[in-house]
Amino acid sequence: MVKFSGYSLISSFTPFPSVIIKTPRRFVLDSKHTNSSRRLSTCTQTYQNPKMVVARYLPPLFSVAPMMEWTDVHYRTLARLVSKHAWLYTEMLAAETIVYQKDNLNRFLAYPADQHPIVLQLGGNNLENLAKATELAHPYGYDEINFNCGCPSPKVAGHGCFGVRLMLDPKFVAEAMSVIAANTDVPVSVKCRIGVDDHDSYNELCDFIYKVSSLSPTKHFIIHSRKALLNGISPADNRRIPPLKYEFYYALLRDFPDLTFTINGGINCIDEVNAALEEGAHGVMVGRAAYNNPWNVLGHVDTAIYGAQSSGLTRRQVLEKYQVYGDGVLGTYGNGRPNIREVIRPLLNFFYSEPGNSLWKRKADAAFLNPKCTTIKSFFEEALVAIPDRVLDSPVAEAPPGREGLFANVQELLPPPYRTAEEEIVTCA
Ligand SMILES: Cc1cc2nc3c(=O)[nH]c(=O)nc-3n(C[C@H](O)[C@H](O)[C@H](O)COP(=O)(O)O)c2cc1C
Repeated sequence: MVKFSGYSLISSFTPFPSVIIKTPRRFVLDSKHTNSSRRLSTCTQTYQNPKMVVARYLPPLFSVAPMMEWTDVHYRTLARLVSKHAWLYTEMLAAETIVYQKDNLNRFLAYPADQHPIVLQLGGNNLENLAKATELAHPYGYDEINFNCGCPSPKVAGHGCFGVRLMLDPKFVAEAMSVIAANTDVPVSVKCRIGVDDHDSYNELCDFIYKVSSLSPTKHFIIHSRKALLNGISPADNRRIPPLKYEFYYALLRDFPDLTFTINGGINCIDEVNAALEEGAHGVMVGRAAYNNPWNVLGHVDTAIYGAQSSGLTRRQVLEKYQVYGDGVLGTYGNGRPNIREVIRPLLNFFYSEPGNSLWKRKADAAFLNPKCTTIKSFFEEALVAIPDRVLDSPVAEAPPGREGLFANVQELLPPPYRTAEEEIVTCA
């Protein structure tokens, strides 16, 4: 049975005028950051109609998850060299950071123009700051603004209602999404878990989706398909211990046919991405695997997911391009930042499971400590000798098979269809 369309209830939705900040948008270069602005220029000088922006890109069948301290601008540069079509999410940026650093925004928000399609993830619990942060970010031309309702980190979740705790307050999330949407012209989305602590029934998840989508313009949800435990386990354990329940994700597709859902959690290779899509997923988001093994995961996205041509680049060619980027960006934030270690960090996993990988990491450590190693070029000269030419000069190898039957019986496990509280009352009456 077709149940809900967020659109049908939007007429009753009123935005929150006190936090709508609509000003003419113009990208102003901060003189202090002229160098980095030039290097990390965004294509934001002219405002673009979101429909046109979206039309330029292939759909987000595959995206790289937001990961704090991992999916920074350097990692995304590498990711974009390996895949032209993957959607790239930023690390979560707290609204407060953007607001308080408003004279230093390029450092947090600028990115090379070829990183499109790119999604900015915001975190926060203060409507004014979320509104202001969205408006400040707008000139940077992100393709979508995502709101974090999934992070269980005590640093985030412990400070009032922030991250995954927000799932317990869908009305607030709807307000937050409304003020975000009111201050941007691009689509907005929510990334959440399937539950929090004992609030882990399918119906509670549906209540959250229903309220947020009907009370705000949110039409896209990214579902990290495990619940979060707020009992003090580490964020890493919170990505490992609560079991994955893909059947909740697939039930959402059935019960909210007018919304778009991206599946996330525990999907480790391209074969598994394709299996999720074949099962009906609208899009698949991959986190750790895309960071820990970027060449073999991202290297297949354009061909195996989008049916597009491969860039044909070898790892040596990718590194040559990355070197140009890296040497251009070193030191441009001031105080020697970013430094070589920060720029090289995403490359440390570039030779995952290849001959020479451990030596490469040891040589990298030595190069970080070598005062003569002041450029990415000199870093490569010192460390890349660890990697055999045949590894550097080969195109991406055939994709490995995924785990068999990852989604095999998911349709049999689907929970019963969602019924809103109103429907329950009507049925009982
Ligand atoms: C180091 C790290 C940092 C993360 N930071 C964020 C974040 O900033 N925002 C967010 O929504 N999720 C964050 N996550 C969660 C991922 O986006 C993703 O939901 C999770 O890793 C499950 O996907 P995976 O199994 O493909 O890794 C982080 C995960 C990792 C490993």
